[in-house]
Amino acid sequence: MRIAIIGTGNVGRAIALGMADKGHEVMLGSRDPQSAHVVTLATDTGATPMLPDAAAAAGDVIFLALPWRAAESAVKALGSLEGKAVVNCMLPLGMIDGTLGLTVGYATSGGEIVQGWLPGAHVVETLGQVSAEIMARNDHLSRRPVMFMAGNDDGAKTQVAALLTDLGFEALDTGDITKSRLLEPYGMVWLNQALVRGKGRNWAFAAVEG
Ligand SMILES: NC(=O)c1ccc[n+]([C@@H]2O[C@H](COP(=O)([O-])OP(=O)(O)OC[C@H]3O[C@@H](n4cnc5c(N)ncnc54)[C@H](OP(=O)(O)O)[C@@H]3O)[C@@H](O)[C@H]2O)c1
Repeated sequence: MRIAIIGTGNVGRAIALGMADKGHEVMLGSRDPQSAHVVTLATDTGATPMLPDAAAAAGDVIFLALPWRAAESAVKALGSLEGKAVVNCMLPLGMIDGTLGLTVGYATSGGEIVQGWLPGAHVVETLGQVSAEIMARNDHLSRRPVMFMAGNDDGAKTQVAALLTDLGFEALDTGDITKSRLLEPYGMVWLNQALVRGKGRNWAFAAVEG
């Protein structure tokens, strides 16, 4: 698959590392494709650095790995992305009464807002319930981690599930994009355990069956 990763911070880097040697053509969409950290990441992963709109145009599947505060203008600048699978890794985070939390919820979600910015694209919400470190590598964990997805288009979810499998996750479909309302608070469960309760970043949720 041709994969575009928009944003080369913790999550963009992790997905690029996780996708290296999986047989995909990966484009890194960066505001500064010549910057040292982007060039190093490209060398380490075999990905091609580009400006964000060029990367998105070249990709079949586009991962959005941007800060929520910058997302609206950055995502709209990518163009319509008509018919493409767009993976929303972003949690709609902000400070609420001095505490990090979700700035939207209950009646909408970050996933639905991104779908509204890109009406012709097939947005799939996923990867918000784990650390970037575990996205990059998780074969040391005692169980295979689970990763939930939500989105309106079954074909896009099939594509994204295959990529989640490449990243080492068990992909589970939760339903349409409104299920992002469930997944984003679930991401906060991870954040609370990791950052507030002291569990750290080297763990993930697993689904076990009997
Ligand atoms: N960090 C985690 O463990 C984790 C886990 C799950 C979900 N998430 C979510 O994933 C998203 C990305 O997180 P992150 O930790 O990768 O963030 P980050 O390290 O801050 O990286 C974000 C990247 O977005 C790009 N960008 C574009 N416009 C920007 C702007 N105006 N200001 C700053 N950066 C801009 C930058 O790449 P270029 O300079 O190359 O353009 C930057 O490196 C967030 O929405 C977060 O909620 C994070």
